[in-house]
Amino acid sequence: MKKRLLTGLQSSGDLHIGNYFGALKPFLDAYLSYDSFLMVADYHSLTSIKNGGEVRRNIINVVRDYLAVGVDPARAVIFKQSDVPEHTELAWIFNCLVSVPFLMQAHAYKDKVAKGLEANAGLFTYPMLQAADIALYATNVVPVGEDQRQHIEYAREAVAKFNSTYGTVLTEPTELILKGVGVVPGTDGTKMSKSYGNTIPLFGTKDAIAKAVMSIVTDSTGERPEHVYAIHKLYRPEQELDLIYQDKAGKYKELKETLIEDIEAHVAPLREKRNAITDETVKEVLVSGAEKARAVAERTMREVREKVGVAL
Ligand code: TRP
Repeated sequence: MKKRLLTGLQSSGDLHIGNYFGALKPFLDAYLSYDSFLMVADYHSLTSIKNGGEVRRNIINVVRDYLAVGVDPARAVIFKQSDVPEHTELAWIFNCLVSVPFLMQAHAYKDKVAKGLEANAGLFTYPMLQAADIALYATNVVPVGEDQRQHIEYAREAVAKFNSTYGTVLTEPTELILKGVGVVPGTDGTKMSKSYGNTIPLFGTKDAIAKAVMSIVTDSTGERPEHVYAIHKLYRPEQELDLIYQDKAGKYKELKETLIEDIEAHVAPLREKRNAITDETVKEVLVSGAEKARAVAERTMREVREKVGVAL
């Protein structure tokens, strides 16, 4: 029997190659070894987005991105949280088990308060909705980035609290920090990130990709433009690259053009695939995923309702 894997997807806008090599690619390399569930965290997104059109667009886009890079909906259950009402139901039960001071330790909540911003109650209880996402499916492993480690600890605590109060019903999850390629460098050599404005778009047109590559900062002293090389390494083995970089030593423009061609060769089929995925296709995937997810979640909740005493 394969172990159960579940992860939550949030749309982060237009993907860049840092998202691809840091998160999507490691997920693709791992998901077939598990009984995998991919959940769009649309109710979580309401803690920050108050615009229906934007929520709807994000749902469609994040699923389209995952399908385009190659997640096979026949081999992973892709669904959205809001299609399975058991998520908010179990979150409520967890909320009744954990204390306010416990939730006050959450990074997301503390950061908001530290900035002098008002945290809504949804943000405050966010970790318990995430705990419900995980516990409903008897999830063994949750592949997440380093930033989500605390949330998995919260989920483990909530599950332990439930089990010690009512008897063991729920499965304690562990996090799985997927090994990506470490930090993907941006066009200025620092971590590629939307907020630094140093990204290369993943699904951009060839022109947009070329523009970003041409903007990679090159220092004029060395023979080898290190920032170009660091990104190029994602697309070719280093032995091959070393030959190219020796052959074109000092010819920064030609090296960048080679990188553009290599990126284009990789992304052209993905881009084509993405363009062919309609909203209808996404909706069909989500409808069929919801059916499979609901079957599992309903089974867990039947037992939970028994234990807490609301099922007569
Ligand atoms: N909080 C996660 C993030 O911001 C998204 C998420 C929601 C999630 N539910 C989850 C991740 C369950 C893993 C498991 O990325």
